[in-house]
Amino acid sequence: MAIILGLESSCDETAAALVRSDRTILSHALAGQEDHHRAFGGVVPEIAARAHAELMTPLVETALADAGMTLDQVDAIAATAGPGLIGGVMVGLVTAKALAMAADKPLIAVNHLEGHALSPRLVDAELEFPYLLLLVSGGHCQLLRVNGVGDYDRLATTIDDAVGEAFDKSAKILSLGFPGGPAVERAAREGDAKAVQLPRPLKGADEPHFSFAGLKSAVLRAHEAGRYRAEDIAASFQQAVVDCLEDRLEYSLSRIDPLAALVVAGGVAANEAVRAMLKRVADRHDMRFVAPPHWLCTDNGAMIAWAGAERFAAGLTDPLDVAARPRWPLDPDAEAARGAGVKA
Ligand code: KG4
Ligand code: ZN
Repeated sequence: MAIILGLESSCDETAAALVRSDRTILSHALAGQEDHHRAFGGVVPEIAARAHAELMTPLVETALADAGMTLDQVDAIAATAGPGLIGGVMVGLVTAKALAMAADKPLIAVNHLEGHALSPRLVDAELEFPYLLLLVSGGHCQLLRVNGVGDYDRLATTIDDAVGEAFDKSAKILSLGFPGGPAVERAAREGDAKAVQLPRPLKGADEPHFSFAGLKSAVLRAHEAGRYRAEDIAASFQQAVVDCLEDRLEYSLSRIDPLAALVVAGGVAANEAVRAMLKRVADRHDMRFVAPPHWLCTDNGAMIAWAGAERFAAGLTDPLDVAARPRWPLDPDAEAARGAGVKA
């Protein structure tokens, strides 16, 4: 059995975790940086990189201490090598390289998106390849066929904003606080989802992709109209997101060969309205619905350690000069989606 140390630092969470290949999470240490970024209403890349540099080494020490282990007992060291805010990614990757060199252990460069994509398998031993994955995070909104480790077919992606980005920007427009996703979900619980008419971009379109930029603009217009409560706009926005995701998912499901499981991952997978809709869709198509627990949906070290464990088992390790990558699509063969600001 292999023990993998995983480091995550691609956005505003610094994290280190130890995971064993039998799916035991030996320890996981995490430090959010909300307080560093709150005043700016969003993640400031340079501040994030500096905070990662301060936090990473103590978190590695905490993860080892909590598991009662030393670096010698670790079989390989995995770190997010992209995609993400490059300054932060470099902090985690350089730390992993230094540890790998000092302890003479193999290095595993993990695609952050693969960390999310494989995380459901860490908590569900029955989840086998292939499965259909809705990956919804702050930087991405993609529908993927997960064929195996390092093997993905991208069926759909956003042509403009990521879904988490739409949550974050809506929270900012509505002054609901930071981080935005959970704040919108909280406000939505107190609101009426039918109160504000909002668009459902690309609903019914004869293409598989997602779009959220128009929805965000409509939230701004509704706010500026001055007639609606923030809670009602939040609830209406969340319902519009759920409707769009459901419509796009049904579009792809009606065109692909059946798959046994529908899986959700990424920060927005923590949203209860999104999870409830996905469960309904899975039931309709006789699929098993798999969602990781909330803490494993948002960025963490355990998902990187687990992706490292899966890669290690497949014999995939990386040289010490492996580069950090700001962009790193899971399916390099997928054609570019139309639109500005396209997220691979
Ligand atoms: O996966 P993640 O932690 O980081 C990225 O890789 O992007 O996702 C963060 C995103 C943010 O946009 C955050 O607002 C969103 O996930 N998020 C949520 C919820 N919790 C986090 N969105 C909606 N509802 C939530 N409960
Ligand atoms: Zn993430």
